[in-house]
Amino acid sequence: MSNRGSFSGRLGFILAAAGSAVGLGNIWRFPYLAGQNGGAAFLLIYLICVFALCFPVMVGEIAIGRNAQTDAYGSYKKLGGGKWGYLGLFGILAGIFILSFYNVVAGWAFGYFLEISFGDLLNQTNYGQYFGNYVNDISDNFWFSLGFMVFTALIVSQGVQKGIEMANKIMMPALYIILLGLIVYSLTLPNAIEGVKFYLIPDLSEIKTQTIFDGLRQAFFSLSLGMGALITYGSYVSKNQNIVSSAAVISIADSSVAFLAGLMVFPMVAAINAYDVQGPSLVFVVLTEVFHNMGPIAGRIVGGSFFLLLCFAALTSTVSLLEVPAAYLVDQKKLPRKTVVWGLALLIFVLGLPSMLSQGMIPFLNKLSFYKERDFLSFVSDMCDISLTVGGGLMCIFIRNRWKIANMNNELAIGNPTYFGSLLKKYIDFAIMWLCPIILGILSILIIIDKFWGIEKIFG
Ligand code: PHE
Repeated sequence: MSNRGSFSGRLGFILAAAGSAVGLGNIWRFPYLAGQNGGAAFLLIYLICVFALCFPVMVGEIAIGRNAQTDAYGSYKKLGGGKWGYLGLFGILAGIFILSFYNVVAGWAFGYFLEISFGDLLNQTNYGQYFGNYVNDISDNFWFSLGFMVFTALIVSQGVQKGIEMANKIMMPALYIILLGLIVYSLTLPNAIEGVKFYLIPDLSEIKTQTIFDGLRQAFFSLSLGMGALITYGSYVSKNQNIVSSAAVISIADSSVAFLAGLMVFPMVAAINAYDVQGPSLVFVVLTEVFHNMGPIAGRIVGGSFFLLLCFAALTSTVSLLEVPAAYLVDQKKLPRKTVVWGLALLIFVLGLPSMLSQGMIPFLNKLSFYKERDFLSFVSDMCDISLTVGGGLMCIFIRNRWKIANMNNELAIGNPTYFGSLLKKYIDFAIMWLCPIILGILSILIIIDKFWGIEKIFG
């Protein structure tokens, strides 16, 4: 086992796990979900989900990984025996599918970065239309997204410390710096305060069933939970580390980036009065228009930095997504890391092609008849979201009924001698034993019903 690799220390692990968490989910998806769900009301629900439900699940995942010292499949199998390994496999598959569409969106971001910095993207007149045409035409996107997958594979093939940890140590601080710079700019725009109000003053009447569903699935996705990423990273953590406090830092780091991304985006939305721009195109449309308005040179610099930020965020996440199946094949099948990584990267890239083609290029993928006429990329992404909340709930049941909470607590007490007796322990016990399995179970079922049939008719 000693040649599996490990993080060099606490900082390396925290940065890598935070890097996995901070991604397109925070900067691209969080703002548009918040925009669709009433701004501040969504932020509130999201934060409750992160700290009340996701944090205990994160602690559980890391504990499983560190205790078992192997990949997601191997960990469940080792600690649970029997058929529990399938739960790990389910997560590994979810990770493969997430990466398949995630890499497509990352490819858009990479393309925007290149075309703003070096091309003529800032000379356009209608950015909504531009984005629509851009994602529809895959002749360039194919290469951008292939390029992105190659970057990911290059990093993961270098292994845990030299690849994953190193990349995160460079990209994560860069990401914070760029983000803070952009917020300062955004807040100086005319009307910025309107955007800030929309984002920060909650109107509780905006909380609908959909707000709760979206808040929960976004929290799981954003924290990279429910599919074994943190089991895998946890398996590279040394025994003297305090899992509970690391998980707290990771959760705070992740939600603070989501929070800051909103603080950057909504003043821009207000400045150009673009409240009608909704959905996945939000940052691609609104932000590019703001960059356009800045004039050619400033726009290139600021816009280029923003999309570079988005690429960094995405890359630290794609790395973790690829590591999950890679660790499985390395640990279980004893295959060489490099072969595994490049083979998986190719396979997953190909799996992403239907998502890429579903943005207009192939009509039937663009409007799935069995999925409320939505596109294939949204379908895969929604199914993956569901698998995360289901996976998280099942992980709690695994700890509760199979591995046993006492074993988890013993693991958590390593590196954290005062854990027994702490208030946090009481809460985490309660959450893993009762709160999470029940709430995740109920909400997952409701989300499935909603996705396929629409629940608003029942609950409003
Ligand atoms: N957390 C990442 C993001 O917010 C996505 C992700 C999900 C990464 C699951 C790994 C596992 O973009």
